Amino acid sequence: MIGKTTYELIATEDGSWTCYDLEHDQLFHNKAGAYTEALQNYCEPSNALSILIEHSNLKILDACFGLGYNSFVLLNEILKQKDSIQQQSYINILGLETNEASLENIPHILNNERFSYLNQELKTQTVNKFGISHIETNNLEITIEIRQADLRKAVPNLLQSFHLIFHDPFSASKAPHLWTVDLFKHYYRLLIEEKGKLLTYSSAANVRSGLREAGFILFKTKPLGRKNGGTLAATKSNINIDDKIFSLSEEEIIKSISDIPYRDPDFVSTVEQIFQTRQNEIKQKK
Ligand SMILES: C[S@@+](CC[C@H](N)C(=O)[O-])C[C@H]1O[C@@H](n2cnc3c(N)ncnc32)[C@H](O)[C@@H]1O
Repeated sequence: MIGKTTYELIATEDGSWTCYDLEHDQLFHNKAGAYTEALQNYCEPSNALSILIEHSNLKILDACFGLGYNSFVLLNEILKQKDSIQQQSYINILGLETNEASLENIPHILNNERFSYLNQELKTQTVNKFGISHIETNNLEITIEIRQADLRKAVPNLLQSFHLIFHDPFSASKAPHLWTVDLFKHYYRLLIEEKGKLLTYSSAANVRSGLREAGFILFKTKPLGRKNGGTLAATKSNINIDDKIFSLSEEEIIKSISDIPYRDPDFVSTVEQIFQTRQNEIKQKK
């Protein structure tokens, strides 16, 4: 759906704000902390600063941009350490989002001491609507494009490549069309093969098996609050987080009946059709 939805701002347990989507009955973030979720599930495991220093550029697809936490926390962390960037470097962020109503809350979200490094550089009134914003500081140029787009229509048509993809839709049980093997295969295609990483908060077995079927190598990220850790999906296995690979019992769950992924080969199935296709596959496997 492309259009307006009604949101209510809610404080999370780490003091940062998130939105509650009244129409879909979904919180944008883990109650334990919106800022902490973006930091632990997306920013820290991305190792973005090392990619930037190594290549002098960093390209990120922020899928389901919402309040922009994943990109803004990452930029804040990079700006905090900007003295370690020796060469002229570039960060390009492409955010995809259907609803401008969530963007209107961004100035409120960023009005928080935690974002002080970003706030020194960014005019928040430029990121509260669809469009392009620029930051230029020392030897770093940052471009943030927030594009009004439905993931299912936009992602299969994207041609540029990315080092990182942040995948952050509502849960798979509510929005299975945004968690399909078919979408994940396009993500794999879009990632720069040697270094590509997709990060998501989800630890669902059928999301993880869908990512594997699309070609990714999986790792888990740190747990937050009462929730399991999320998932880091890499295009190559040369990632130095060996302590976070899955235990044998977790592997058994991923390979069990609950692992059957969602499918939507032509990107037009209804939510009901996607659930039904999965049920049929489960019946065949039993
Ligand atoms: C869990 S929230 C995103 C949280 C976000 N990353 C943040 O930091 O605030 C999910 C977002 O996905 C958006 N969305 C829902 N369906 C979408 C679609 N088909 N394509 C792109 N965005 C979508 C919603 O409007 C909402 O902003």
